[in-house]
Order: sequence, then C-alpha cells, then structure tokens
Amino acid sequence: TTTCVIMAGGKGERFWPKSRTHLPKQFLNISGNKSMIQQCIERLQKFIPIEQIFIITNELYAELIKAQIPTLPDDNIIIEPVGRNTAPCVGLASIIIEEKFPDSTMIVLPSDHIIKDENEFINILKTGVEVSGQGKHLVTLGITPTYPETGYGYIESTDQTIYLNNMKIHKVNKFVEKPNLEKATAYIEDGNYYWNSGIFVWRTSVIREYIRELLPDMHDLLETMKVAFQTSDRNSVIRSEFPKMPDQSIDYGIMEKAENIFVIPCIFGWDDVGSWTALERINDVDDNGNVIRGNILNLDTKGCIIESNGKLIATLGVEDLIIVETDDVTLICKKDKAQDIKSLIKELKVQK
Ligand code: GDD
Ligand code: MG
Repeated sequence: TTTCVIMAGGKGERFWPKSRTHLPKQFLNISGNKSMIQQCIERLQKFIPIEQIFIITNELYAELIKAQIPTLPDDNIIIEPVGRNTAPCVGLASIIIEEKFPDSTMIVLPSDHIIKDENEFINILKTGVEVSGQGKHLVTLGITPTYPETGYGYIESTDQTIYLNNMKIHKVNKFVEKPNLEKATAYIEDGNYYWNSGIFVWRTSVIREYIRELLPDMHDLLETMKVAFQTSDRNSVIRSEFPKMPDQSIDYGIMEKAENIFVIPCIFGWDDVGSWTALERINDVDDNGNVIRGNILNLDTKGCIIESNGKLIATLGVEDLIIVETDDVTLICKKDKAQDIKSLIKELKVQK
C-alpha cells in the first residue's frame, strides 16, 4: 500500500500578517481559489484514496483541518501537542500509519507547496514508490537550483543511476541541509546538486530502521508509544509522551547521515512559497514588476508586493516594498527583508 503523510504544523511566520498563529499559511488561499492544504489533498487524491492520507499537525489546527477537508477520516488527523520539528513528526506518523497499513510506502510532504504540473508530480511519486521498494532506500525529489538559496537542503547526485518509467534516478553522494552562502554558491557552480524539495518517499519500516540507528532516543520513545497505544487512548498517549521528543529536523537528523539516498530530478514547477517574495514567482507581475491584490492605486511604483483587505492602498514613488493590510495590522517591509519578518514576530507581545 502507498500512504501519505502531510506535515501541516508550520506557523507560516514569514507570511505574517496574513498568516497568523491561529490561521497559518497552509490554511490560506495564497494562489488559486482553495487553501494550500486543500490543493495538496486534491492533488494526492488523484492517485491515493483519502483513507490512506494522513495529516500531522499541531492541536491548534485540528478543527481547521476538519472544516477544510471534511472527507478526511478523523483518525487520519494526527495531533501533536507541541511542535518538535519534522523528525519526531515523521516518526510518530510512521507508527500510527503502521497500525492500519503494516509496512506501507509512505510519501512525506509539506502542506504548503505549489506544484504546477500535477501529472508529472504524480508520475514522479509513483516512480519514487517503486524505487523505495527496491531496497532500504530513502527517496528524495530534487529541484534544479537557480540561485544559492541558503534556506534549503542540497543533494549531491552521482553518476550511479537507475532507469525507471523513462526517468533517471541518481544515487546520492551527500545531503547538506542549509549550507552557508559560500557553500551554496559552490554547489550551484558544481552542477551536480539539487535542492531538496522537502518531499520524501520511503517504507515505514525503513525510515524507522534509520531512526533506530541515528536517533536512538527517539526510537525508544516511539516504541514506548506503540506499546501504550494498545491499551490507552491514542491522543492521551501522544499528549503525555510526545513532548519528551527532542527537537530535530528530518534533514539534519536523518538525511545528512543516512546511506542509500536516491534523488529523482523533478521539473514539475515547484515553489515552497517560503515568504512574500514568492508571490512574484507564482503570480503575474504588472509592467512595473508589481504584484497587487485587492483595492490598490499605484503611481510611479516599482517592484512592490501589495495586498489590501478592502481599504484602498495608494502608493506613489516607492520601490521594492511589501505592503500588506489586514483587519488589525499593516505591514510595510523592504523586499530584501522579507526573510526577517520572523524576527519582527519575536518582538510582538500579543496577536502574532
Ligand atoms: N506537523 C508538523 N510538526 N509539521 C511541521 C513541523 C512540526 O513540528 N515542523 C515543520 N513542519 C512542516 C512545515 O509546516 C513544512 O510544511 C514542513 O514541515 C517543512 O518544515 P520547514 O520548517 O518549512 O522546513 P524548512 O523550510 O526549514 O526546510 C525544509 O524544506 C525545504 C524545502 O522547502 C527542508 O526539508 C529543506 O531541506 C528543504 O529544502
Ligand atoms: Mg519551509
């Protein structure tokens, strides 16, 4: 069986003030006319039945998920009492999925990415499932990098390849999470590196073997939880045990250290919609390079991203700004500071 776990616990802070603690980015309509998580589910349902799709998220968002995806069985929502990053998240999902689907191949993906070519996306995931069945393989989906982004993982491919479904799948030499600018620049020049899309395919038994080997404390805790699930209510076990998990990402915790990683090069139009400036890549820009949404009047305005929530926003003679107005907040930010909105949020005392 193929199962799928959607990680939807992120706070989407760099999309503040549109994305808020109680309504983060994945539940908003950033492009198209559905929320990102609704689009994600629709895409997956083209080849995986909803019963085999799981969403793992913070307890703050369980009700939002039920409201936005009413067809998802309640049991398929896995609720974390606290965020411990993606390694515990994947570990917990794997033991819950195994209860219903022993040794399934699990596709792990974020809830808030934009994928343009859905057919290609599905073909690649199907191929990923085949590859992961051939051994103790961890399959990654690689994106051809276009600039030295330091917020991504980098995957160095080798010439050792598998051909499947007209695709060339490379054995990976190494995985480097969030390199500094100097390294990222060298990787781009090298030409053998891909960006990690954050989408993974592996058998639940295989990822758990890696967790046992590389994150033994986490493995022990997962085993304890598995035993407790047999006699106690799932949510109360998670509530008492999960907070004991160390904070660890799957990228640093497993991918940087694991053997047997493969990468499928992908060209399906991928964007992780990481910050406001992503809108310039995914939306149409006007003749002056502006992306505007809502009630806006601009004159002599260049390279701005402006979103109004009803009130007229008028700009004159400004360049390279992000201006976002919501019911209770107005953000004005230089475009090259878009990544730093996180630090702004740290300073907020209320209403994040
Ligand atoms: N349920 C749950 N619990 N989800 C989580 C948690 C958690 O504790 N932490 C993160 N997530 C979700 C986020 O919502 C996001 O969809 C996904 O997991 C990845 O987490 P990010 O925090 O966005 O990771 P990143 O952007 O720093 O880096 C990852 O993604 C890049 C591509 O977008 C890495 O995998 C990089 O290697 C990769 O290039
Ligand atoms: Mg991210």
